[in-house]
Order: sequence, then structure tokens, then C-alpha cells
Amino acid sequence: MKAWQISKFKSPLTLIQKNIPIITSPNDLLIKICASSINPLDIQMKEGYGQNIIQVMRKLNGILTGIKQPDLPLTLGRDFSGVICDTGLNVKSYKFGDEVWGTLGVQRTLGTQSEFTTASYKSVSLKPNNIEHFEAASLPYIAMTTFSSIVNTNFPLSLKLFCNYESDNKFFNKTHDNSQYYDHTKNVNDDLTEEKANKKSSPDYTYTEIMDSGDGNKDCLDDILIKNIQNKNILIRAGSGGISTFVVQLMKAYNAKNIVVLCNPHSFDLMEELGAYHTIDYKASDVIQQSRILGPYDLVYDAIGNKFSSSTSSNLDDRHSIKSYMNLLRPYNKSKYITVSSPLLSNADKYGVFPLGLGKSFLDYNYESIRALMKGNLFYYGYYMPNAHFMRRLTQLVESGKIKPVIDRVFRFDDLPRAYEYFGDKGLSKKGKIVIDNTKASPPD
Ligand SMILES: NC(=O)c1ccc[n+]([C@@H]2O[C@H](COP(=O)([O-])OP(=O)(O)OC[C@H]3O[C@@H](n4cnc5c(N)ncnc54)[C@H](OP(=O)(O)O)[C@@H]3O)[C@@H](O)[C@H]2O)c1
Repeated sequence: MKAWQISKFKSPLTLIQKNIPIITSPNDLLIKICASSINPLDIQMKEGYGQNIIQVMRKLNGILTGIKQPDLPLTLGRDFSGVICDTGLNVKSYKFGDEVWGTLGVQRTLGTQSEFTTASYKSVSLKPNNIEHFEAASLPYIAMTTFSSIVNTNFPLSLKLFCNYESDNKFFNKTHDNSQYYDHTKNVNDDLTEEKANKKSSPDYTYTEIMDSGDGNKDCLDDILIKNIQNKNILIRAGSGGISTFVVQLMKAYNAKNIVVLCNPHSFDLMEELGAYHTIDYKASDVIQQSRILGPYDLVYDAIGNKFSSSTSSNLDDRHSIKSYMNLLRPYNKSKYITVSSPLLSNADKYGVFPLGLGKSFLDYNYESIRALMKGNLFYYGYYMPNAHFMRRLTQLVESGKIKPVIDRVFRFDDLPRAYEYFGDKGLSKKGKIVIDNTKASPPD
């Protein structure tokens, strides 16, 4: 099969020929990738940012599952839409030919920018039947980040989500059988016939199961979404990229009272079409005042954090600091500030993971948290977490038409380096996601 990979951090992507992976965990599926997408995490992983934390996660995962993964070579890509070519022995709910979509944990070195990959069945679901693969690939990573960051506002559940990361490990998964991963007498067939690929399993879940995912994890997701969104005044500080185009639709689907989006003026129309009631130019000198007029807010959802503010405070920096937007929350109301722009990875890169990196992140969290608590409000960091339960909810939201993929541009698989250049072009204001379509043939040389 063909796969894009890097053999060193900060090095160019190279297209290589390698063996189709074999299933090494009983929970895994072998997937033929039809499409994937690019996320800021891919750029970070390519450059080696966040490596200290990712290495710890790989080591932990190695201890828990008995499967060691090297840091390099690395194939990027965390989300996909594709077709199942084979299943591990624990997989009862999917079969050969099922069209699925999902995400991979950051510990996996064979990502989705490849012709095949392996993924845990506990981080996928059946693909919605009303969209194409290239559209589907734009959603899983941003949706898993959004759902898990909102679930993070419920402590027992967020701890459970963390402990069940990909739900693949032998301590939390009592049925894990390491003695036999996979029946090697079965054929791995990369040449799926249309007939087989079209044969879909009937979904192995019902709505009740989604509400109670069977692992004692009484759902929750809907309750938490309703509690945080319904009838609330919400400010989204995330532009018009992947996260924002998903979050605004989710807020609309869960009946927010008012949705204000800070973005580039080029995207005002798009964001209003997706559900924003008001749009404000995030670069405007009076962006804080304009946002205040439409407040106070019950929830600020932020993907920018303090990234563009400097330590020397000035009025201009106020437009880019958590502090300024936190002041717009409705006071003494347990209003929530959720940001997915946490300093965890950068602190671990700068100071190492233990004890300084984690210690500094804990202090950063406490600093913002105390600031929020002083006004009777709450502050949370959110993180990307793969989860099948969330994926099934996402399938329903897409099939009911409440969430639609928003795609800036589609690149062919062979054109992947150009897609990364385009993604990294700071001068370009993108609208939605950049997607890689593996099903489009390359033009002849
Ligand atoms: N913690 C996690 O696990 C996690 C997971 C996913 C994403 N994230 C983080 O979330 C961020 C957004 O992700 P994404 O996928 O949406 O990225 P993206 O598709 O690259 O979009 C970023 C958007 O932010 C806008 N922007 C830049 N500065 C802004 C500001 N000061 N105020 C408002 N908007 C601003 C950009 O606007 P223009 O380019 O149009 O000017 C662009 O539309 C990234 O930094 C990523 O690292 C974290």
C-alpha cells in the first residue's frame, strides 16, 4: 500500500510503499481509507511539537495494551472515512465491507494519510448514509474534540472518558484477550468488490443504547449538551476553521438562545448560514466592546486561548486574551469558559512532562480557574478524545441534517504535501476543513 510518512520531525512528507498493516489488537479493524482530513494537530506532530506528552501516552498505552509503538516513522492524520477490510476477534458489531468513520488516538504511529490503517472499533461508528466519504472525513476529529471538551464540564464523566481512552486497554476492558488477536487464515483484501463494499451491517445499536452505551456510562452526552447550550447566550471565539464551523452548528442544533461568532469578515455569511445570530470581526479594535453589547454570556467556547497575546499587556493584546473574554461571562452564574487551546503540550515541550511541565500546566489552569471562580464562574480546558459513543451521536446528527460538513478544499491523496502547504499558509483565511480524497485517481504523468 502507499502511505505518506515522515522519518524525522520537521522533515518533508514522503510517499512510501509498505505492507498493509496487520491487526495486532483484538479490538482493531483494518480499514481501507477513502478520505482523511488535516488538523492543526497534524502540523504539530509533523514539527515534533507535543512530543514529550505524546511519548508518555505511547509508553502508557504500551504498558496497558502490550503493544509498543515507535515515535518514528510517523504517518499523520487522525480522522478518516473508509471501508472495513478485516476485524479483530473481539469485534462483533462490524463486518467486512461496512462503511465506517472515526478517529485514531495520538499514540498510533500509522495515521490515516495512508491507503490503509488500523483503528479500534471503540473509536468508530457506521458512516452516515447521506454524505460522501470525502465529506465525512471532515468531521470526526473536530467533533470528538468538541464533545469531549463539553463533557469535561462534568468531572466524573471526564475522568471516565480519560481512563477509557480508545477503551483498548486490558485493565478497563475485561474481555481483552491477548492470546489471539486475529484470525490470520482470513484474507486481507485491498481490492474490495463493489458488491461486498456495499453490503452494510444493520446498525448494532439503538437509540436507547446510545443513551446508555453499555459500559455503565449512562449518557450523559445529551444531558450535558442540553445543560450547557439550550437557551444559553453563547460566544464562540474560534474563527471559521474546523472547530468553529462544527461548534456553531452544534449550538444551533441544541437550541442556544443566542450565538455570537468572532471570525474574519470573509466568513460572516458562512457562519450566519451555519447558525450564528451575530458575527464580529475578531481583528476589530473594539471587538471586546462589540462582544460586550451582546453579552453577558453563559458560555464562551474558545479555540484561540492566549496564543496571540503577549506577556506585556496592551489594549491590542486584550483582543487576544482569555482574560478579556472571561470578563464577558454572566457573573455569579456558574457560567462556563471552555478552551481547547491549552498550554499542556507546549509546557511539556518546554519543561519536560514530569514534574515541571505538568506542574506549570496545573498552575496555568488554577490561575484561570481562580479568576473565573472569583466571579462565580467556571473554567475548563478541553482535549481531543476518540470515542465510539460520540461517533454514533455524530452519525445521528448528520443523518438528521443538523450537522453538515464544511469543506474549504479537497486534495487528492497524491497531492498531500500541497494540502499541507495550503493548510499552513498563514495569509489564507480558510472556511472549514481541508480534506484528502483517496478515491480520486491521479492524472497520468
Ligand atoms: N485541545 C485539543 O485537543 C484541540 C483539538 C482540536 C483543535 N485544537 C486547537 O483549536 C484551534 C482551532 O482548531 P481548528 O481545527 O478550528 O483550526 P483551523 O481550521 O486552522 O481554524 C483556525 C481559525 O481561527 C481563526 N482565528 C485566528 N486568530 C483568531 C482570533 N484571535 N480570534 C478568533 N479567531 C481567530 C482563523 O481565522 P482566519 O484564518 O480566517 O483569520 C481560523 O478561522 C487550533 O489552535 C488547535 O490547536 C485543540
